Amino acid sequence: MDIIKTAAKNGAFLAPLAGISNLPFRLIARSQGCSLAYTEMISANGLVRKTAKTYEYLKTCPGDRPLGTQIFGADPQIMAQAVRIVEDSGVDLIDINMGCPVKKVIKTGAGAVLMKEPVLVGRIVDVVKKAVKIPVTAKIRSGWNRFSINAVEIAKILEDCGADAITVHARMADQGYSGQADWKIIAAVKKAVKIPVIGNGDIRQPQDALRMIDETSCDAVMVGRGVLGNPWIFKGIVDACSGQQVNYLPDLEQRLKMIENHWEMESQIYGDKVALRSFHKHILWYTKGLDNSSRFRELAGKLKDKESILHELNEYFRLLNMDRS
Ligand SMILES: Cc1cc2nc3c(=O)[nH]c(=O)nc-3n(C[C@H](O)[C@H](O)[C@H](O)COP(=O)(O)O)c2cc1C
Repeated sequence: MDIIKTAAKNGAFLAPLAGISNLPFRLIARSQGCSLAYTEMISANGLVRKTAKTYEYLKTCPGDRPLGTQIFGADPQIMAQAVRIVEDSGVDLIDINMGCPVKKVIKTGAGAVLMKEPVLVGRIVDVVKKAVKIPVTAKIRSGWNRFSINAVEIAKILEDCGADAITVHARMADQGYSGQADWKIIAAVKKAVKIPVIGNGDIRQPQDALRMIDETSCDAVMVGRGVLGNPWIFKGIVDACSGQQVNYLPDLEQRLKMIENHWEMESQIYGDKVALRSFHKHILWYTKGLDNSSRFRELAGKLKDKESILHELNEYFRLLNMDRS
């Protein structure tokens, strides 16, 4: 599939991250070399019922390309209606979530519980493929649990039913997000299918991406938590993959500028009030591990307005700069 192949040559992919991979986050990731980004998972039911909150997740702009929109659901007919809505919103590809382990999702038969339903997986992809012209991909787990590691079986079904690419998050559903990802599963899926395979799980440093490609032969890598507070990882991956010296971490001035730009974008797109609430987690991620950050982080949690937080942030960075000079 051209979009995936071209994007794979140009950099790494940003994972769908619920509550995180919104429009400003994707634009920030792209500014550092992310070559394909995904929305967070969007309910097929919500789209069909036209819930306002669900439509918010479709928000995009011309700079937000190429874009994959991820949907979750279990009823093939509803999903077919939902993906037509998504296609009309002008995105580049549709990804089907077959990996979310959250109770609220799996109790509806969607997400990772689909790993236990190979026949339904086939039907969903078949129906969805027929409903749209844009590429359809799926994001799967290694299996439901260690007694049912079936990523290869599911991948072959996906390929047979017309999926254009597969992302493998190499953890079992019952692991949630803990424990180590087993990249051997990605390698096994890559061997078993001809469509592009995107590897995911535990890329925390640019060199991890190189190692994943080397160990699994995957066509592209997708980064999840490694991007939190660290969008620069994409630049590092581009450098690592092109054999250049990897020197990607920003200096203090660049880090502060990134935080301010990111927040400004959140404010412009969602309004000051929403941004104030949603940006707190980003401040914690961006300042994690910096010298003496605990006092600032504690203070930022108590402050209630943007001006005071930005003032304290600037003050904290000024002191950091003084310490380092
Ligand atoms: C907070 C959070 C939200 C997530 N939301 C989604 C989601 O909406 N759709 C999805 O397919 N995976 C979701 N994931 C899983 C990630 O896309 C990714 O597969 C996982 O974090 C493993 O990659 P990593 O080890 O690089 O973080 C989420 C993970 C986290 C931590």
